[in-house]
Amino acid sequence: MNFIKVKTYEELSKIAADIIGEVIVNKPDCVLGLATGSSPVGTYKKLAEKCAKGELDFSKVRTVNLDEYLGLSPENDQSYRYFMNDNLFDHVNIDKANTHVPGGTGDPDEECKKYDAIIESMGGIDLQLLGIGRNGHIGFNEPAETFSEGTHVVELTESTIEANSCFFASKDEVPTKAITMGIGSIMNAKKVLLVANGPYKKDIIEAAVKGEITPMVPASILQKHPDVTVIYSEE
Ligand code: GLP
Repeated sequence: MNFIKVKTYEELSKIAADIIGEVIVNKPDCVLGLATGSSPVGTYKKLAEKCAKGELDFSKVRTVNLDEYLGLSPENDQSYRYFMNDNLFDHVNIDKANTHVPGGTGDPDEECKKYDAIIESMGGIDLQLLGIGRNGHIGFNEPAETFSEGTHVVELTESTIEANSCFFASKDEVPTKAITMGIGSIMNAKKVLLVANGPYKKDIIEAAVKGEITPMVPASILQKHPDVTVIYSEE
């Protein structure tokens, strides 16, 4: 595992965008696994800047996002589809038909099957970008008895609902369920890049990177992946 500690969020975002940019340059039709949350926002800004300068071409890039809240339509400004359009897709020359986010409003079981089929039909993920929840969740894979495999529906924990409530008008509006790519699919990605910032992420990052590998800290499984980079800034 390659662990990079930096001082500022700006540095974190620059390094992360450089790593993703290199994947796009080497394979213009690469499959990027993308994440939401506040941590990757700066990375997406840097990627959009590189695209505007003509350093990156997204025209053939394909993407699969990690997760979506159940019950939120793509038009809902709290949905992860809306977030991705707003933070990245609307600012780069990507074909939106090549971008995928799990459906939050269809039949959940059908959506899960459909999503695993999409990932398979793309030939797997070249680079998976991740954030990390305060309880160690990746995607919406919450602490559990076992590591999950494919896309599935999850019940969000109180800690996640609390942490994500800052994006909603009130905590009551945070959906209690979500659909998420499984740990198995994340581990199948050729390369994994995890970004985390803020002092409140320090302990969980330490547990994930150096602690026991346990489904109670879902990100700890990444210790077993052959190509993981973790970038952490205390800012
Ligand atoms: C949500 C997302 C995760 C993300 C996490 C951390 O729960 N489902 O994919 O990693 O938030 O978000 P933040 O970066 O805002 O701390």
